[in-house]
Amino acid sequence: MHSHLLAELDDGVTSVDEAVGLVKQLAAAGYTKLVTTPHIISGLYHNHADTIFPALDKLNLRLQQEGVKMEVEAAAEYMLDDYFEGLLADGEPLLKISNKYILTEFSFVSKPFNYREMFFNLKMAGYEPILAHPERFRYLHDDFDVYRELHETGVLLQVNLLSLKGHYGSSIQRVALQLLKEKLVTFVGTDIHHQRHLDVLAGNRDTALATLLAESGLQNHLL
Ligand SMILES: [Fe+2]
Repeated sequence: MHSHLLAELDDGVTSVDEAVGLVKQLAAAGYTKLVTTPHIISGLYHNHADTIFPALDKLNLRLQQEGVKMEVEAAAEYMLDDYFEGLLADGEPLLKISNKYILTEFSFVSKPFNYREMFFNLKMAGYEPILAHPERFRYLHDDFDVYRELHETGVLLQVNLLSLKGHYGSSIQRVALQLLKEKLVTFVGTDIHHQRHLDVLAGNRDTALATLLAESGLQNHLL
């Protein structure tokens, strides 16, 4: 439910070939459905339905031609920035996962000053907000109550499998595990951008981690 598999739309895959290669490996790992979520970030990645769905059609056509059995849908990963605030204020339809969830992220520098208001407005508009990889926002590590507050107010937290594998370093891994242990996590995602990410996920099977995820009811086909 979180990946960057549409070529040239963001910092994810750079070609349809690369995407097809990754999807084949994910299918072999046991995935049957993927939701790909290009970034939408003001001043950086200006994506919308007209860039995302044609790219999705291209990928699905190639998968079909190559006989790859995988359902691929698209939504987006929205940075909670001024552009997103505008979309919400204008009542623009947002790109949903499973017809209700909106995948969001914070800046890596600081949390948005008005994140409570934006999440509230999202809910008032009938969406269910998900915050992507909260463990990667280092400024929250010493502010754990924010994670609890988000969870309590119905913002669903999505941890990256890459964080659990230690890909972004030990403090991010520790916080990801802590979030799991406190049962604050609703989703795990690959957030896969390229082959190197898949290599990390598929390497060195961690059975303790796989068990922890299974006990938490979090589906994953890689760890
Ligand atoms: Fe992402």
